[in-house]
Amino acid sequence: MSFTVAIDGPAAAGKGTIARAVAARFGFAHLDTGLLYRAVGAKGGDPIAAAQGLVPEDLARPDLRTLAAGQAASRVAAIPEVRAALIEFQRRFAAQAGGAVLDGRDIGTVICPKAEVKLYVTASAEVRAHRRWLEVGGDEAQVLAEVQERDARDMGRADAPLCAAADAVVLDTSTMSIEDAVAQAVAVVAARRSA
Ligand code: CDP
Repeated sequence: MSFTVAIDGPAAAGKGTIARAVAARFGFAHLDTGLLYRAVGAKGGDPIAAAQGLVPEDLARPDLRTLAAGQAASRVAAIPEVRAALIEFQRRFAAQAGGAVLDGRDIGTVICPKAEVKLYVTASAEVRAHRRWLEVGGDEAQVLAEVQERDARDMGRADAPLCAAADAVVLDTSTMSIEDAVAQAVAVVAARRSA
């Protein structure tokens, strides 16, 4: 039987960590959908052709986690034909037997509007930038500027803009440890599983 957990939120909010922990705790498969857009952006050339021809090896590139790859991802992610080319794969992943966790920007709103659990994970831009800076290093002010630029583009685009689904549980992790955020997410999923 399928059981889908949709986790959305802005850059570096902790979605990935929470998604991995929830997947491990319940034995669900996990898909980081941001990687699909990062891989399309990193391929270069025509982004629509890149999205239509995406293969698993594209997701294994070592350079997908850089700030530049994040910016390239959010640019190609605003192109409706790029998003359309990636929908089927994500929906099939979400519907697999045994359960699935998908994290991204439009999972609860567009990809899986009927997901059993929807979480919207957020935190202040400063806290998120600080977390991302701990991962990537460099100039923290520049990391903050990059996070804010990407948020504005992701929230302002016409097709599948980043926003919380009306029925999402909002987790603001600004003043939470990652352990607390994971515990809250696990509690929401556990409550829905036994409902
Ligand atoms: O890890 P982080 O939150 O910084 O970014 P990501 O989840 O890897 O996503 C990179 C970019 O891909 C985002 O800024 C979005 O523009 C785009 N994206 C999207 O449009 N829809 C998704 N479901 C996932 C990512």
